[in-house]
Amino acid sequence: MIPEPAPTVRELLAFYLEAGVDCALAEEPIDRLAEIDAPPPSPRTPPVEAPRPVAAPAVMRGEAAPAPDVAIASAREAARTAPTLEALRELMQGFEGCALKHTATRLVFADGNPQARIMFVGEAPGRDEDIEGLPFVGRSGKLLDLMIGAIGLNRTTAYIANVIPWRPPGNRTPTPQETQICLPFIQRHIELVNPDVLVTLGNPSTQTLLGTREGIMRTRGRWFDYDTGGRTIRALPTFHPAYLLRSPSYKRLAWQDLRSIAKALAERAV
Ligand code: URA
Repeated sequence: MIPEPAPTVRELLAFYLEAGVDCALAEEPIDRLAEIDAPPPSPRTPPVEAPRPVAAPAVMRGEAAPAPDVAIASAREAARTAPTLEALRELMQGFEGCALKHTATRLVFADGNPQARIMFVGEAPGRDEDIEGLPFVGRSGKLLDLMIGAIGLNRTTAYIANVIPWRPPGNRTPTPQETQICLPFIQRHIELVNPDVLVTLGNPSTQTLLGTREGIMRTRGRWFDYDTGGRTIRALPTFHPAYLLRSPSYKRLAWQDLRSIAKALAERAV
């Protein structure tokens, strides 16, 4: 049998890209294959049970990944107890219930002005956001900046976050379980920001936050009521900027949505 030729560097790089290894994070290379031979960590001795503060979430630092329903319940409990955005950010930093946290470089919490009257919510951070720790800083973020700039907004007058705060490896679609685990956090996030207008960017954000199964072609440009828990606000789905980069002909419809957003903000201005 003729042996297969060794893969070329180009083929190996293509494989790494498909596997989600698409950015260099350190100056020095790390030999991950050598880690396989490293001795396994010694079995953990069970910790002495310490009394748990009443509001502490069940799934926190140092604990093994829980079953999804436990993680969802824990996220709900944790999110509910966060009195401020800073407390919410800290809770999310310490939350161990979502496996995405372990493959992401860092938490991507939010950007913009938390006092803003408008909040945009996308799906999940990509590679650039994972590196910088801020939402929408890559190519689609540049387009989002242009879109909001077209109606006189920018990151000092708008607030931006994602349903999922950790980058899924290789930018894969988050699983329904991952989305459900992260949902209580973004819901509490919206409640704490308390905007007048919520804009969901793209299908996953729209379906998750507005509880609809309809696709973005049907939902975009249509106003929904969104219950923050404290009050009902107006929510408008529009196209995700990444989709507009792939399908620029839909920018015309996105412009209609943006005008509708500007009108809603003007109507409610005090
Ligand atoms: N796409 C998103 O949905 N969110 C980001 O932060 C970047 C790209």
